[in-house]
Amino acid sequence: GKITFSMIKPDAVANGHTGAILKMINDAGFRIVAMKQARMGAIQAAKFYEIHKERSFFQELIDFMTSGPFVALVLEKDNAVEDFRKLIGATDPQKAAPGTIRNLFAKNIDANAVHGSDSDANAIREASFHFAGLEMFDKDGNCMG
Ligand code: RTP
Ligand code: MG
Repeated sequence: GKITFSMIKPDAVANGHTGAILKMINDAGFRIVAMKQARMGAIQAAKFYEIHKERSFFQELIDFMTSGPFVALVLEKDNAVEDFRKLIGATDPQKAAPGTIRNLFAKNIDANAVHGSDSDANAIREASFHFAGLEMFDKDGNCMG
């Protein structure tokens, strides 16, 4: 697929890394289709992350993602989902490959700097959660990336 969804998470925004992370995303060949800084409350975050609701880390994840503003991004590139997950590195920054966004900017597995969709279907679901169709698509319904 050509589309993925990303968030620059509250830790990276609070630490002033938004610009550096956007530059890495741009330099890796992704085009920004849609972008905004926003916040979620616990109700929105629980809905966004409902696939994780039975996981042990769910409450920490909700607390962290509601702790401050994040930047939501819809990104376009061939093979977008897989290539973006390569660019961000492993979930645990201790295991993230050198030069990846999490290797450079993440502190721990909760405050891990960025989100990247894990499948084409989830990319569409997540992009549609944060953005209206008119923000992502042209008048013919084609993605504007
Ligand atoms: P993301 O969704 O944020 O791109 O991260 P991911 O696919 O690499 O990891 P996922 O399994 O989807 O988990 C979502 C977020 O939950 C936190 N997490 N904590 N303590 C833990 O074992 C644990 N596992 C996951 C991370 O912040 C992860 O990004
Ligand atoms: Mg995930």
